[in-house]
Amino acid sequence: MRQMHKGMPRQDKLAQNSERLEEGGGMMHSALVPKLVRVKDFKRETSDLFTLTLDWQTEHQPGQFVQVGFPGIGESPISIASYSDEHVKLSIRQVGTVTNYLATKRKGDLVSVRGPYGRGYPMQYFKGDSLIFIGGGCGVAPLRGAIEFAERHRDWYNELHMFFGFRSPNDIIFQEALKRWEKAHNLNVSVDKVPSNTCYDGNVGFITELVRESQLDNEKKVVMICGPPIMMEKIIEILKEKGFNDDQIFVSAERLMYCGVGKCGHCMIHGKYTCRDGPVFRWDEIRGQMNDS
Ligand SMILES: Cc1cc2nc3c(=O)[nH]c(=O)nc-3n(C[C@H](O)[C@H](O)[C@H](O)COP(=O)(O)OP(=O)(O)OC[C@H]3O[C@@H](n4cnc5c(N)ncnc54)[C@H](O)[C@@H]3O)c2cc1C
Ligand code: FES
Repeated sequence: MRQMHKGMPRQDKLAQNSERLEEGGGMMHSALVPKLVRVKDFKRETSDLFTLTLDWQTEHQPGQFVQVGFPGIGESPISIASYSDEHVKLSIRQVGTVTNYLATKRKGDLVSVRGPYGRGYPMQYFKGDSLIFIGGGCGVAPLRGAIEFAERHRDWYNELHMFFGFRSPNDIIFQEALKRWEKAHNLNVSVDKVPSNTCYDGNVGFITELVRESQLDNEKKVVMICGPPIMMEKIIEILKEKGFNDDQIFVSAERLMYCGVGKCGHCMIHGKYTCRDGPVFRWDEIRGQMNDS
């Protein structure tokens, strides 16, 4: 389902394929049938990561994902990186066929989407708590949707704390949003290393160390984590040392996916479908199984 056709197909074939889909979905729309939506904006965040803003109004929970691509190219699961009535933002790292193709899309171009799918962050359940967002690299993208939700429902939550780690200053995404969050909330950003000839006066070192050094306690707090599995495991170890319980920790898991709706079995983590039961799990639901398949 995901990789309908490898390699870059001819433009006339692509045009034929896209004609078979109606823009906006029309009568064909169902949970599994993609529809075409227009790109409102393309923004390059870093050398290998970009954000597409889609002219698509759809109800969703922060942390849910969509299957995005183009007929004849394939599709990829990508987390929604916004919370808006007007658009859907997707922040995408270029790693292969689909993501490199999507990087060529500009304002007015069409992409295919289906979803939103999966279980996101249970934001209602966090009412009255302080929220801690911990992200690494493009793992910050799904957290941005949850942050925008919390800002929209500001009176539901107490403090917002953020800990975001990037490989280098050149890999820092969402620069404008980070400036806003720095003023409004408790923002901590760190980079693993600074290449020579790079001007940067922020924190250097793994984000795990900033979390370890912080004065966070577990009193009426929940933590949302998204990033590379090794980072998530280290962060959870530190949170446990600080007294956090498993049911205060929510992680976003990644698995290879095809159908996205619990039919093909590709995304199983020990009896759970990442696409349908996740991608967001409470830590006690998948503890010890995040690296298993
Ligand atoms: C629920 C979910 C949410 C995601 N959200 C985002 C997001 O917000 N932004 C983003 O940039 N990426 C996200 N991803 C990862 C993204 O789906 C893959 O990078 C993408 O499908 C790669 O497609 P491709 O055709 O460009 O690369 P391919 O040519 O298919 O693969 C390139 C390389 O990436 C590896 N790869 C492909 N998919 C995955 C995966 N799911 N996990 C680990 N390695 C993979 C392949 O094994 C291969 O080595 C998410 C994945 C899941 C499951
Ligand atoms: S991707 Fe098919 S069951 Fe999850």
